[in-house]
Formats: sequence, C-alpha cells, structure tokens
Amino acid sequence: MNSFAFYNPTRIYYGKGQVETHLAEEVRHYGKKVLLVYGGGSIKKFGLYDKVMASLRDANAEVFELSGIEPNPRLSTVHKGVAICKEQGIDLVLAVGGGSVLDASKAIAAGALYDGDVWDFYATRKRPEAALALGTILTLSATGSEMNSGGVITNWETKQKIGSGSVHTFPKFSFCDPENTFTVSREQTTYGLVDMFSHVLESYFSHTPNTDLQERLCESVMQTILAHADAVLENPTDYDEREAIMYCGTMALNGMISMGMQGDWATHAIEHEISAFHDIPHGGGLAIIFPNWMKHVLDSGTARFAQLATRVFGIEQGSKSERDLALAGIDAVRAFFDRIGAPRTLAHYGIGRDHFNEMAAHATRYGTVGQYKKLTAADVIAILEACV
Ligand code: NZQ
Ligand code: ZN
Repeated sequence: MNSFAFYNPTRIYYGKGQVETHLAEEVRHYGKKVLLVYGGGSIKKFGLYDKVMASLRDANAEVFELSGIEPNPRLSTVHKGVAICKEQGIDLVLAVGGGSVLDASKAIAAGALYDGDVWDFYATRKRPEAALALGTILTLSATGSEMNSGGVITNWETKQKIGSGSVHTFPKFSFCDPENTFTVSREQTTYGLVDMFSHVLESYFSHTPNTDLQERLCESVMQTILAHADAVLENPTDYDEREAIMYCGTMALNGMISMGMQGDWATHAIEHEISAFHDIPHGGGLAIIFPNWMKHVLDSGTARFAQLATRVFGIEQGSKSERDLALAGIDAVRAFFDRIGAPRTLAHYGIGRDHFNEMAAHATRYGTVGQYKKLTAADVIAILEACV
C-alpha cells in the first residue's frame, strides 16, 4: 500500500434521540451565534426543524437562518451565507439536510474566514487556511459529507461544478439518526444508494499493490448495500434498514476503507460536468456513467473486475475467461442499478450530445482524469457517447 497519514476529527453521533440529548451541549462548545443552514423545507415538514430549534434554545444560541440551499448547491447561495457570517460574527454553522446543505455549509464556513471569493477554493488549487466551526445533522444517506472534509459547489454562471476540501472543513460533529431519513423519497433513496456504492467503486478500482484488507473492506460495504437496498426501498420507515444504509453511506466516504490506496474518481469528475451543465441529481448521473466507465477501462486491469464479480456478486467463474467474468461483474452492477430504479441513459434526463467537448475539456483540465486508466478528453467523450 502507499504510505499515508490519516486524520478524521469528526465526532459522530449515531442513532435515535441523539439530537435531543447532545446537540445543545455540542453547540455550547462553539459559541452563541449559530447560522442554521437548510434546504427547501423538508426539515420543517417532518419535524426536525422544531427539534433543532428547541435544542438551540437550550443552548441559549442566537440563531440566524439561511434556507433554500439547492440540490447541487450554488455559489450564489453560498455567498449569501458567507455574507451573514461576516456581518453577524457567526461562531458555528449548523447544517441540517442532505449532502447539498452540508457541502454548502462547508463552503460558507471556509468563506467566512477568507478575504477573497470562496470560489477560489474550488476554481483553483488554493485551499482554506481556516474555517468557522461546522456541525451537521444528516437527513439523507448518500454523500458521506457528514464525516469527510469534501464539498462540491456549482457555479451556475460559468457552468462549473467542482469539489474542494481541507483539514479545516471536516464537521466538528455530525448527528446521524436514521429516523431523520424516513421521509426521503424513493427516488432520492435510490440516488443515495448509487452514490454510496459508487464511492466504494471509486476506491476499489486501484492499482495500488498489497491492499488486501482495503479491498475486503470495500467489498463488505458493497455487499451490505446490496443486502439492504431492496428492503430500504420497500420499507422506507424501517429503522433497521435505514440505519444499515446510513452507516454504509458514512463508511463509503470517510476515508476508513481506502487508506493507503489510490482511488480513481474519474466517474465522479465526469458526473460533475454533466450536473454542471444540466443540473441533474448526482446519483442519477453516476448510475448512467459508472457501467460505461467500467467497460471503457476494463483492459487496464481485468483482475479487479473479476474479483468484484466473484466476491461481491457471487458469480462463479466456471469455464469463463477472466475477461468474461469481469464483464459479468459489470453487468451485475448495471443490473443492480436497474433493479433499484436508477436511470441508464442521459436520454432519461433529456440530455443529448451538446457540451460534450466542453465537459471533456474541463474534466481533463489538469491533463488527464482518473487513475485506473488516465483518461484523455477523447476517452471522456467516448464514455459520454456510450451514455447517450
Ligand atoms: O432541500 P430539501 O427540502 O431538504 O430536500 C432535499 C432535496 O430536494 C431532499 N431531502 C433531503 N433529506 C430529506 C429530503 N426529503 C425528504 N426527507 C428528508 N429527510 O432530497 C433532495 C436532494 O438532497 P441533496 O442534499 O441534494 O442530496 P444528496 O445528499 O445526494 O447530495 C448531493 C450533493 O452532494 C454532492 C453531489 O455532487 C451533490 O451536489 N456530493 C458531495 C460529496 C461530499 N461532500 O463528500 C461527495 C459526493 O460524491 C457528491 O459529489
Ligand atoms: Zn458521489
């Protein structure tokens, strides 16, 4: 494996009733003035907003609010949050929502202590040197943003969707109560399943030698997602199913399963390009691209694909060649995404070939994209063509 240093300072509260028991005490650690950040209002409908406000009253917090964070959160909205933090001297940014709310809050926390435009952290390789304290209450299992430092912001004016992260943007604390995900729609639950499964695949397709445990950790998370996906879709208010999936989402992208292992991440980079132009749900884009990326890079290392087929999907090699086994593994991923109702083609969202050249050029702006196979702009276009 590669040499590595691992750092993850997020205190994570898992389970029922943790918000009521521990939120006020956490808030008190970080100061009085809290910016509460949330999305389009789902937290009000299912009662979480009232619970959070009660805890904030217990903490004697002075609460400012920024609502209306969009799915695929926009820079213009992040700017509003940064302005509130600077004007009001906010101590703690409290994000209540899915990955979009959490990511926007990370950007707000970093932008609040920066003199320039927070977009610098996304558009360039510059990274924040400080950030306000951030706490999160997760309401949708998907991104892992509750326990990582990353965030993805869209600049709608320039049609760029870009990720960034730094040691300063880990949440100080995160609350993961499966009950807060009971009202997530079937469609968003599917997208979340695809996203967390894809995070594991991005790590798993790696040429780093001697990563036996990392591979088996990845395989375990994938098997657990496969084992619970149907049940969580059928019974969205089943606590145990939501809990199993929530933990998979956190583990898929908190760095624990992939230490010392060079992941790929080309599929994510390509998906971000599609979302930047067409504002589609991240998980939907991944479901379309991933199987096509797999076919495109298969010959850069069929053994890992064959291993996925046997160890994760239980496909027996029999008389199959390694390549045929690998292809059966790719078909199994596609079949899983189909079974849970994820889209197959860009046509599902009415997306044609417009902008493919721009997307490919931007995805490869640092030369190539991805690691399993270093993709050129021509490779990216070929993958996008296969998604049409
Ligand atoms: O806005 P509200 O009203 O809250 O509704 C949201 C939104 O419409 C709704 N929702 C969330 N929790 C709910 C709920 N509806 C009912 N009940 C609940 N409990 O779901 C919709 C989608 O929410 P969103 O936050 O956009 O979804 P998700 O968590 O999938 O986040 C997607 C964003 O995260 C980025 C994606 O690119 C995308 O912008 N990612 C962030 C990553 C990270 N920080 O590490 C990694 C990922 O790969 C990903 O790129
Ligand atoms: Zn993702």
